[in-house]
Amino acid sequence: MHTLQLGLLSSHTGSNVRAIVQACQNGSLDAAPRVLISNNSKSNVLAYAHAEQIPAYHLSGQTHPEPEALDRAMLEIFQRHEVDLLILSGYMKKLGPLTLTYYQNHILNIHPSLLPRYGGQGMYSSRVHEAVLASGDATTGITVHLVNTEYDQGPIVAQRELPVLPDDTAASLATRVLEQEHLFYLETLRAISQGSVDLDLLSRR
Ligand code: GRF
Repeated sequence: MHTLQLGLLSSHTGSNVRAIVQACQNGSLDAAPRVLISNNSKSNVLAYAHAEQIPAYHLSGQTHPEPEALDRAMLEIFQRHEVDLLILSGYMKKLGPLTLTYYQNHILNIHPSLLPRYGGQGMYSSRVHEAVLASGDATTGITVHLVNTEYDQGPIVAQRELPVLPDDTAASLATRVLEQEHLFYLETLRAISQGSVDLDLLSRR
């Protein structure tokens, strides 16, 4: 058991971030939200972090036009806040090589489908659920995976299957999957903090 020191990354709403922060606050997850970074200065998630008094920064191509400087600034913030696990939730940018290397096997993302199906560049929010419905699949789901240089392609940490109901629309599917994401991200983080999921071991698959 060890208290996870979390660095959070999110671009818009950050509902997964909120679920994780609340679980840290009420003691149902042995973790501490150390810092949040958003590439979007107007995001709700940034305002939320400020309201919760979590150190929060806007870092993007606007603040750092040079990609390497952005990468360095991001890594410096995570190191300064003594982060040991990065959590992406709706973070729409790729991480730079310095951050990816330093936190190798310690960066998680959540995706609203059973990867490798319906992942990759451009596959986010309603596009994922529309593609699932168009395929006629009877099930969809959630994937938590390690982050590497390619969108949605890192080793899978955990997956949960969910049914597609006959009268589902992309909107109803999105709502149901997102509700389950909040629970599933927490379950996966608990398993990591309790040592029943070993991220270094997973990365060797
Ligand atoms: C979630 O569906 C997640 O799977 C995807 O982006 C969405 C983010 O939602 N990566 P939120 O910002 O956590 O509300």
